[in-house]
Amino acid sequence: MVSVREHYENHLARYYAWICGGAELNIAENRNFFKTHKIQPLETGRAFDLGAGCGFQSIPLAELGFHVIAMDLSARLLGELKNKAAHLPIETMCDDILNFSIYARGNIELVVCMGDTLTHLKALQDVEAVLLQAYAALMPKGRLILSFRNLSQALEGLDRFIPVRSNDDTIFTCFLEYQKETVRVHDIVYEKKKGQWAMRKSAYRKLIISPQWIQNQLQHVGFNIEFYNDKEGLIFIVARKK
Ligand SMILES: C[S@@+](CC[C@H](N)C(=O)[O-])C[C@H]1O[C@@H](n2cnc3c(N)ncnc32)[C@H](O)[C@@H]1O
Repeated sequence: MVSVREHYENHLARYYAWICGGAELNIAENRNFFKTHKIQPLETGRAFDLGAGCGFQSIPLAELGFHVIAMDLSARLLGELKNKAAHLPIETMCDDILNFSIYARGNIELVVCMGDTLTHLKALQDVEAVLLQAYAALMPKGRLILSFRNLSQALEGLDRFIPVRSNDDTIFTCFLEYQKETVRVHDIVYEKKKGQWAMRKSAYRKLIISPQWIQNQLQHVGFNIEFYNDKEGLIFIVARKK
């Protein structure tokens, strides 16, 4: 078992955009999501993307006119973001999102933490710390958008083997081991080079965040939940600072 940073830097980052279906598809989906929820810069236009990865949310937000600070532990994924979006107002910050408040100085109107980043934190106390920091950083009526995988229904037996994506040269499979509060995620890749298949593997831990717990925490911190949807195992929440 390795840390999240090691897992991404040494293993997952190089396949990440591909296993998600490609950058264009994901950027287009987020453009739609932000349009549907009328997300646009209103005053300062300052936004933070926590766990930005290669920019599936930062890019559409910057296109809408936000000045985005994209935070992530993976220098490799932030490098991909910079390559794709050099023309857009996005600043990258290679740091832990638990240090978010160090960089957040006033007048922030939007914080997003989307695409399952929250489940990468070590403990529910860390999730709570991110919610508290987001609340403190946001302007009155500022919005926080979360999306993450609902891992609270444990898969069993052979259903724990997930065929993520494959083509002629690469096969990416995920194996999930459910524990009480976490899930061990094993990412196994076969790659064909000069006619020979070679296997690469790495595992890390994800946190189980229950839908009820996150809603209670958001309300406890002081957010109003304006939108909640559990779509094919992915939870989407738009919350607003009171
Ligand atoms: C599943 S990816 C989501 C990336 C992007 N938001 C998306 O939708 O594609 C999770 C990202 O969170 C980052 N990450 C995980 N834990 C983090 C932490 N504590 N601080 C900063 N980044 C973190 C990982 O490096 C990875 O890029």
